[in-house]
Amino acid sequence: MIATSDKDREGMRAAGKVVKAALEAAEKFVKPGVTTLEIDAVVEETIRSYGAIPSSKGFHGYPNASCISVNDVVVHGIPNLSVVKEGDIVSVDITALLNGYQSDAARTFAVGECDEADLKLIAAAKDAFFVGMEHARSGNRVGDISSAIQLYSELHGYGVVRALTGHGIGKNMHEYPEVPNFGKKHTGAPLKVGLCLAVEPMITRGSWQVHTERDGWTVRTNDGSKAAHYENTVIITDGEPEILTL
Ligand code: MF3
Ligand code: CO
Ligand code: CO
Repeated sequence: MIATSDKDREGMRAAGKVVKAALEAAEKFVKPGVTTLEIDAVVEETIRSYGAIPSSKGFHGYPNASCISVNDVVVHGIPNLSVVKEGDIVSVDITALLNGYQSDAARTFAVGECDEADLKLIAAAKDAFFVGMEHARSGNRVGDISSAIQLYSELHGYGVVRALTGHGIGKNMHEYPEVPNFGKKHTGAPLKVGLCLAVEPMITRGSWQVHTERDGWTVRTNDGSKAAHYENTVIITDGEPEILTL
């Protein structure tokens, strides 16, 4: 969506606040011994407490309010009865719909004490997002964001997942254009003032190759390396991008 009216911008901001609150509630709740289904319940309650709808629930048959992806699961992990334990890294990805506007964001959390290398992975996914944001300027193209994320991630030795991308967002969860985390600068869709994007680096400690499990959702690294995910919904402006889910 190109949010040019105040109504659209305010709508996107309000939806962003819901997703931010749900991520914060999840972060507080994540500790050794909780199940991913319990984390999902906290997310769903938080979203509904704002009068919003957890829009992943029922999306192409997806069963839950959040995607919870542990260790070598990159994205789209389905909450279940398995407990998270000290040393795990847990990605929580949440989409909410408020008054017709969608917002989408993800974080990877460390459970208790984690390996230094895993903490660095988590930090690198976040840093890659912000490096991408330096190129999220009107007049640039999507490829400027993509290539910046890829170069930063690969320079630090991480695999950049290619099978999944960021995306436009607005009245629908997934809109034009795709926002890959790899690519060439000066290519791709033009970044116009008001364009709403979900930018979401997904990186691994090993190779970029992933597969989808037989449940049709769970995306896991082929080499078993751990993965991190960091996503925000943003609006392109005539200056710095406005980040709605921070
Ligand atoms: N939040 C995901 C994204 O970043 C989409 C999840 S769709 C679901 O694009 F159905 F898996 F929940
Ligand atoms: Co998401
Ligand atoms: Co997304």
